[in-house]
Amino acid sequence: MTSELPPSLLPTLPGSSYTDPQIFAREQERIFEQMWFCAVRADDLERPGSFRTVQVGRESVLVTRSRDDSVKAFLNICRHRGARLCTQEAGEVKRAFQCPYHAWTYGLDGKLVAAPHLTGMPDVDRTTYGLLPVHVREWLGYVWVCLAEEPPSFETDIIGAATERLGDPSAIDRYQVDGLSVGRRIRYEVRANWKLIVENFMECYHCATIHPELTEVLPEFAGGYAAQSYVGHGAEFAGEVQGFTVDGSAGADRIPTVSDEQDRRYFAITMKPQVFVNLVPDHVIVHRMYPLAADHTVVECDWLFLKDVVEAGRDVSRSVELFHRVNVQDFDACERCQPAMDSRAYRTGGVLVPSEHHIGAFHQWVTDRLR
Ligand code: FES
Ligand SMILES: [Fe+2]
Repeated sequence: MTSELPPSLLPTLPGSSYTDPQIFAREQERIFEQMWFCAVRADDLERPGSFRTVQVGRESVLVTRSRDDSVKAFLNICRHRGARLCTQEAGEVKRAFQCPYHAWTYGLDGKLVAAPHLTGMPDVDRTTYGLLPVHVREWLGYVWVCLAEEPPSFETDIIGAATERLGDPSAIDRYQVDGLSVGRRIRYEVRANWKLIVENFMECYHCATIHPELTEVLPEFAGGYAAQSYVGHGAEFAGEVQGFTVDGSAGADRIPTVSDEQDRRYFAITMKPQVFVNLVPDHVIVHRMYPLAADHTVVECDWLFLKDVVEAGRDVSRSVELFHRVNVQDFDACERCQPAMDSRAYRTGGVLVPSEHHIGAFHQWVTDRLR
């Protein structure tokens, strides 16, 4: 099939890549359980005992703040007989997590601190039978976890993606993303494979068709070439546009450390496997994907602004509305493709036009990871 394609076209993955539960299970094992996974916003863990549970590959992971204020993450499984420890997505405990089954109790550092009749079992080591820890890193104000025994280099895989895209290691630091506050968070239930969402984010061939508001603000997007295919290039705002908002009106206060070269420009970064970062002068939009099944992905999207802007209750609705519309337009498109992945029309896949050819590298990356 491939050999019959004219040079303008490259093949995509076959349809089964987006529907086959066995392929999805392999992706969970070889991608999401091996790589750094952006789990929660650190600010969401307000104080010691605040917790979140997130699905990472096939595992439920418990992320919490410890007494010493550090963030810790564990497999959300009781070491006694395997009950899921926390069933809520978010919550707070005073000083320990107690299993609802036989009441084994774990400190915020994961250590086994109490269990019925534990004093009668002096040979049971409280660390050995503590919760199983997973690796944790904090960057951009997010908690990233890694389930691999030996995690890959965070510097290469995650920070490196930003450097590679922006062409300058300090460029992302100027947005001070870790110090920004969540002005708005929207959770999208997308009935599509996570790879369709990544592929869609990587190309702008669709921008002229489905993103009228975005192409008003970023006219070069109508040309179909995603700004992210050129290292260091940010798409420039249209001349009459004042801010990255749905109607081109002024946005919030500019992040003071953003450089003049970064002003009035939009940069997008894909951090494989599940994060997109969008940078504009006054806010940062971060997408985290949680792939739950071959045809089901939850996307949590945060709009981050300067703390003062959020605390003063400033109206950021026009900023939020622009990318919210883009999200809905994109996810609708992905959901329109998903059912077709099972069709005989897509058995050997589709094709990529030249402005999408870089998606071929993503397909190759997925294929290599699953081999
Ligand atoms: S399974 Fe948790 S205490 Fe028994
Ligand atoms: Fe899009």
